[in-house]
Amino acid sequence: MKILMVTSEAAPFAKAGGLGDAVSALSRALERAGHDVRIVMPRYYGVDKAKLRSLEGPLGVPVGQGEEWAQVYVGELPASSVPVYFVEHERFFGRDGIYGDRAEPDFSDNPERFGFFSRAAFQLCRKLGWIPEVLHAHDWPSSLVPVYLRHLERRTEFASCASVLSIHNLGYQGLYSKRSFPYFGLPWELFHGAGFEFFDKINLLKAGLSNADCLTTVSPTYAREIQTPEFGFGLDGLLRFRSEDLVGILNGVDLDDWNPETDALLPATYSAADLAGKAVCKAALQREFGLPVDPAKPLVGMVSRLADQKGVGELFGPMYGSAYDICSTMDLQFVLIGSGEKWCENEVRSLSARLPNFRAIVGYDERIAHLIEAGADFFMMPSRYEPCGLNQMYSLRYGTLPIVHRTGGLADTVENYNQETGAGTGFMFDRLTPRSIFDTTGWAVWAWYNRGNHIRVMRARAMSRSFSWDHSAREYHKLYDRALLAARGSLGSGSRSRASLEE
Ligand code: ADP
Ligand code: GLC
Repeated sequence: MKILMVTSEAAPFAKAGGLGDAVSALSRALERAGHDVRIVMPRYYGVDKAKLRSLEGPLGVPVGQGEEWAQVYVGELPASSVPVYFVEHERFFGRDGIYGDRAEPDFSDNPERFGFFSRAAFQLCRKLGWIPEVLHAHDWPSSLVPVYLRHLERRTEFASCASVLSIHNLGYQGLYSKRSFPYFGLPWELFHGAGFEFFDKINLLKAGLSNADCLTTVSPTYAREIQTPEFGFGLDGLLRFRSEDLVGILNGVDLDDWNPETDALLPATYSAADLAGKAVCKAALQREFGLPVDPAKPLVGMVSRLADQKGVGELFGPMYGSAYDICSTMDLQFVLIGSGEKWCENEVRSLSARLPNFRAIVGYDERIAHLIEAGADFFMMPSRYEPCGLNQMYSLRYGTLPIVHRTGGLADTVENYNQETGAGTGFMFDRLTPRSIFDTTGWAVWAWYNRGNHIRVMRARAMSRSFSWDHSAREYHKLYDRALLAARGSLGSGSRSRASLEE
């Protein structure tokens, strides 16, 4: 099958979080399964052109009343032969930051930047003479792809092409002033008619969810949760309406990047059969963060965006967060790398200064993230909501037992400890509060000091859990087939709504 991933992130070229990991890993897995997969993404400032080949001639992209011109570069996704096309446009992407920067966390011209980019994906296919069967869009930045397919490309060479939109995080919807709408080159009646309208603003994700042939999200539990008001961020009604076309497919772990047996970023590698290397990593991690090197001390690690989604309020909120109590009353060490909201960066710096057993690095660093996954005994991930979550899966693979809120992908990947039998792969709580994080961490530390045999067995069990992208890729393939049937008018509400639009 010919599949084009239209995405704002793909690791290692550009990554703000798990989306970048997921798109690249899924593309590799689909290629292994024999599909012709290609990726198109913007050429951000940080993507080094010197390593890329330039496509001949400019790319003309219709926008609003006029046209923009772009240059296209081609590279290859590492550990694969998946072609990656980079759309270059100086005014839109010749700056630091994917979605924003320190001064402006959400660029005000994002609707124009990503509207242009989504339209460019179609023009690129034309230029290549390569028309995919499936256009696979991800999150709000490429949500215009399903809209363009349905409303502008219905009778073109894309007529029998299907669109799939994956929700990696419903908390980010691409909400902008409707002043930008004319730039999309769509008639005003589609502001309502194609589902853009959200409290008189443009909601890019909502438009994408209204028009894609099939929808996915990144875990089965999250697929159910987003259909409820609590997790639906105002779109639960639409998602219930489209529930027959929505499936949850769990992300996997990309073993090229995250494998304790081969990880080149670690001071020592290890496997479930021989954990000596894990002890070396633990000592290196303690040294890296300036903590006493002590194999007997339980070491809790955390790698996270410092954003409300990740439960950082309950953990680090000044006055009410539980991290201070955890570190001052329990015999453990706690290390963190993260960046994000200013208040939280300040708070973890201040905790580092006040507590002898808590150390934080404010920043973003792949090597340290790998060292924490490998060297820690427990992994803290109390997310308020979690579409899938990759870090807890990496932790399991690295024999680092997760402490998690039972929600979304965390509920689908971690099995709770049973202190009678020793079953489980981690420690879970049902309701996110500072107290529940405190209690559950206390439970893990209790098991560490009093049930060492359970910890050893859980670790081996965690490491044996396979989160295979090949399995997920097969699920996506089935879904692509369904989307094609819907697009070609033989199944499902996709075809019904298309038919009604055409009448
Ligand atoms: P999300 O995408 O919501 O941030 P995920 O768990 O799916 O959460 O993915 C997060 C990804 O970003 C992981 O690959 C993780 O290692 C990485 N990451 C997050 N924060 C940092 C950081 N400060 N330094 C290095 N890597 C980080
Ligand atoms: C988002 C989600 C995260 C998920 C990732 C990749 O960033 O927050 O849970 O793992 O996308 O799908």
